[in-house]
Amino acid sequence: MTAIPVLARTRAGLAVVRGSLPGPVILVPTMGALHDGHRSPLRMARHLAGPTGSVLVSIFVNPLQFGPLEDFDRYPRALERDMEICAEEGVRAVFAPSRREIYPTEPLVTVDPGPLGKVLEGRSRPGFFDGVLTVVLKLFELTQPDAAVFGEKDAQQLALIRQMSADLDLGVQVAGAPLHRDSDGLAASSRNSYLTEPERKSALALSRALDAASSAAYAGPSRALAAARVVLDGAAMASPAVQLDYLVLANPDTFAEVGGDYIGPAILLLAARIGATRLIDNTSFFVGARS
Ligand code: PAJ
Repeated sequence: MTAIPVLARTRAGLAVVRGSLPGPVILVPTMGALHDGHRSPLRMARHLAGPTGSVLVSIFVNPLQFGPLEDFDRYPRALERDMEICAEEGVRAVFAPSRREIYPTEPLVTVDPGPLGKVLEGRSRPGFFDGVLTVVLKLFELTQPDAAVFGEKDAQQLALIRQMSADLDLGVQVAGAPLHRDSDGLAASSRNSYLTEPERKSALALSRALDAASSAAYAGPSRALAAARVVLDGAAMASPAVQLDYLVLANPDTFAEVGGDYIGPAILLLAARIGATRLIDNTSFFVGARS
């Protein structure tokens, strides 16, 4: 399907468009600058919508989830290209509001992400998940979707949105879509466009570290982590250097760090800085001997 999606730029415009969409309506919230990684949740949404339902995409660079020293001003914006990608993926409607449309006034009430919002990304980026959950809650309210799709690239974000929808009785089914990697292994991300070519080469250590851990996972958590660390220690000495923020092997349900004797499903999450660019990645595997 390559029909151009309907574009709504205001709440009033959205209300009209929303009323005309055949259900089920599946929402994919994004910050735009769409790339191949976004096609993963878009395709999952198209699948969930079925032959008659509708995929609705929101495009909004949410100031509330950027720290004062982060890249809000230089975050890439490319609405025309985004509309083309949405058309290619069978999206029926796009909601691309202005900042004032979403935040007519600075919100005084925001969503507290709870304990899961205080570890990993939440610890490195204070206020980040409050900002994410607040805007997602507002987007759910404005678009009234039956379900919403988020990528496993942002595994902690996906888990928190699931938790919010359950804890606050939002009635929105939250689905995860598989992490998409570019052909060199780098997890696709809007922030990859900041990388110089040598930085991108260094950044490949992230997915290589996850692969190394995955290959050693049968031997237990310590061996998996050690295998990842060998790769990352090498990358820390490379030029441009990979500066590791965190590398954590966690329980995929709670995101609590697993102990050395843990056997079961696990998720390995990492964040690192290459030059001025901060990237995250993760992979899931079974750790320890399967009996
Ligand atoms: P953004 O980074 O634009 O991502 C939008 C959606 O696309 C998220 O659910 C994200 O996990 C998914 N995505 C991005 N790259 C992906 C990849 N390589 N593979 C699979 N899925 C990928 O995440 C946000 O925006 C914002 O925080 C948002 C939820 C829109 C709230 O502002």
